[in-house]
Amino acid sequence: MDLIPAPRLVAGSSEGGFLLDAGTTLRAVPGTGGTERWLRSTLGAALGLPLAPGEPGATDSGDANAVSLSLDTGLAAEAYRLEVTAERGIEIRGGDAAGVFWGAQTLRQLLGPDAFRRAPVRPGVPHSVPYQVVEDRPRFGWRGMMLDVSRHFMDKDGVLRCLDLLAAHKLNVFHFHLTDDQGWRIEIRRHPRLTEVGSWRARTKYGHRASPLWDEKPHGGYYTQDDIREIVAYAAERHITVVPEIDVPGHSQAAIAAYPELGNTDVVDTAALTVWDTWGVNPNVLAPSETSVRFYEEVLEEVLELFPSTFIHLGGDECPKEQWKDSAAAQARIEELGVANEDELQSWFIRHFDRWLTARGRRLIGWDEILEGGLAPGAAVSSWRGYAAGIAAAEAGHDVVMCPEQQVYLDHRQDGGEHEPMPIGFVRTLEDVYRFEPVPPQLTPEAAAHVLGTQANVWTEVMESRDRVDYQTFPRLVAFAEVAWSALPAPAERDFADFARRMTAHYRRLDAFGVAYRPPGGPLPWQRRPAPAGLTARDLGRPIEGAPPNV
Ligand code: ACM
Repeated sequence: MDLIPAPRLVAGSSEGGFLLDAGTTLRAVPGTGGTERWLRSTLGAALGLPLAPGEPGATDSGDANAVSLSLDTGLAAEAYRLEVTAERGIEIRGGDAAGVFWGAQTLRQLLGPDAFRRAPVRPGVPHSVPYQVVEDRPRFGWRGMMLDVSRHFMDKDGVLRCLDLLAAHKLNVFHFHLTDDQGWRIEIRRHPRLTEVGSWRARTKYGHRASPLWDEKPHGGYYTQDDIREIVAYAAERHITVVPEIDVPGHSQAAIAAYPELGNTDVVDTAALTVWDTWGVNPNVLAPSETSVRFYEEVLEEVLELFPSTFIHLGGDECPKEQWKDSAAAQARIEELGVANEDELQSWFIRHFDRWLTARGRRLIGWDEILEGGLAPGAAVSSWRGYAAGIAAAEAGHDVVMCPEQQVYLDHRQDGGEHEPMPIGFVRTLEDVYRFEPVPPQLTPEAAAHVLGTQANVWTEVMESRDRVDYQTFPRLVAFAEVAWSALPAPAERDFADFARRMTAHYRRLDAFGVAYRPPGGPLPWQRRPAPAGLTARDLGRPIEGAPPNV
């Protein structure tokens, strides 16, 4: 049935199938109530079926018109077995509650594209699920997508919709990039100016930082703490962990604009800084002072209250050291701490928060620059500048999430054609992403076990709307999801033709859901964003260049 991501095993397909109708009941044992609610509210709404509660365990009684959810301790975490028979209806067994939920996602795909709508378009027409058995489990425990809501804010409804799309593709980590130079997006009660000042910018650079064009209107927005609670709860119901990112000590100009004392006040007039209105690596980084450390502890105290995730992402990327080199206060700090240089000062900063998080039962994860100057022992690494840092970290016994920019940065263009909007970054086609391999073959089994999984990163400098995010993210996130979930062979042996064939059915699901994906033939006229007159692609983005090969 053209399932995506491809399951491990599909067997026993025969003539005929189970018909879901108004009499079909939904039976859930304790511990599977989340999926029961999801099936009723989502599939029930899409198909116009009540899916009335039935008695759990009653399937043996011979009444086969039921969808039955249960747990099976013989199955692994997140694994499921979906069985469709004439005798017992639809049974979904999960190794845990998450497994039951992923089984329900498979059932949705088996029901056809109408199951991806929000209301029935063919009421009264029965929905058939072919008799079969599907057995499945994920390759990785960390199957993620990062969304940058700082460069362009996505409103709460957009985030909830994004979580629905992750769930539909069996992705289970939402890395929420909440703070950056261009906007602070999470309410912090103790420090209200972070959002009063830090969540708005006066104007926005159009295209790449080298572009001379601006969108001369204010941009901004933020999530209240109740919005965050809602997002986290919505994700949890879908077995998605929300990993918040508070980026330090770089990428902090929005925070410094709100609280100038956080910056290096002896080298820049931080009181004159505003939320940044262009792109690139920003020189205005946090001062390595007690003031900024205490401030961020206070921020994180509220973050920990809101996010149950074990991992808390503290960024750590792209922190230029020039201000620390020029700052007498930073140099005195280096002296006082007895560290060798500015890199070690950053390490000290990250180590401080690693200890702070560990003492509270959490773990720090950061971009791979946190390896420079020595990494705190329990910290994990998001390997983004290629594979090398991830390999070094895994070999040193650190957990790693592989997300190399050359492979899975979905802001990068998906074709070299002239109509591709905002031509930033490498060309990474759907097939390139399908052949991405998260575990470099040179890792020993012991080091490879430190690869927790993988995530695709959606940076939004050139994605000012939900449609733009959809366009850049889909269909490539679908290929990524199969890489993260399915037991695929080595990149060169992957059957892209078969994936492309299954995509034909999957595009109909995305259409029904309402995703503005990039069509296989290239952007539709309204999706095109040619370089403005007088500007070349080079003005708006990095030169068109081939991406390095997959490992
Ligand atoms: C990054 O792309 N700066 C993590």
